[in-house]
Amino acid sequence: MKTVVLNTGYAMPTPGFGVYRLSGEQEGVDAILSALEAGYRHLDTAAFYGNEKAVGKAVRQSGIPREEIFVTTKLWNDVQRTGIVAEAFEKSLELLDIGYIDLYLVHWPIEGKVTETWLAMEEIYRSGGVKSIGVSNHRIQDLEAILALGGTVPAVNQLECQPYFSQEEMRSYCEEKGIQMTAWGPLGSNRAPLLEEQVLKGIAAKHGKTTAQVVLRWNVQRGIVPLPKSQNPQRQRENLDIFGFVLDEGDMADIAKMEQNRRLGPDPSNVTF
Ligand code: A2P
Repeated sequence: MKTVVLNTGYAMPTPGFGVYRLSGEQEGVDAILSALEAGYRHLDTAAFYGNEKAVGKAVRQSGIPREEIFVTTKLWNDVQRTGIVAEAFEKSLELLDIGYIDLYLVHWPIEGKVTETWLAMEEIYRSGGVKSIGVSNHRIQDLEAILALGGTVPAVNQLECQPYFSQEEMRSYCEEKGIQMTAWGPLGSNRAPLLEEQVLKGIAAKHGKTTAQVVLRWNVQRGIVPLPKSQNPQRQRENLDIFGFVLDEGDMADIAKMEQNRRLGPDPSNVTF
């Protein structure tokens, strides 16, 4: 499994396996087990997804040594509003029941709470139950506020990233600050005919790959760790098989032209949930 090294020194396997919307309790465990069997060693969950227990169960059932699997979970928004961050972390630890968490992220930036929440995250980090801390869906202004505290630099910012919304400004900002970018919804989450785009089909045919593999590879070549979700064992394997080919400059430029400033998921400037 390929890895990237975070600013904490820990290795994060790429790509990761996104578990949002994995349906059914036992089906969820089975899907994660089949992902681990396929070779994934990075699972991305969140308190909000309601499947931390399933993730923990699959990790334990897999028989793979704990230290070989990288597990991310996230702090939900209501907790930031009420300020009971430490308890929420303990609850995630308990549900996962895998000893420690590799990466704990602030799920969304909550207006007026960004720095307060980050200070609470740093306390959790010092407590030792988590190897790295970071954020998700944070804008440059949120990261600037966190960095201005002069404490821990987030190890990761996880964001929506797909060819209609390529996050190029964020990508270069994170690169400059040593923050690893990871991508949720890298395949367009089935909310747009992204994988049917002719540009992608042409590139895929040229390399003998699928459009999903092209999109995932495009992220990898931009230094971003994609977190594709699939409940289907064959597509899980397909989404891992992205290292045997290289997109050339022309391919990358053609994909860059798909940019439309078009999000398929929520806007962090409007977090009402
Ligand atoms: P399924 O779970 O049936 O495979 P994203 O990761 O962007 O959120 O996208 C996940 C969606 O894309 C799911 O609906 C998933 O369906 C589908 N999907 C995952 N991998 C592929 C693939 N290789 N080709 C086509 N669709 C895929």
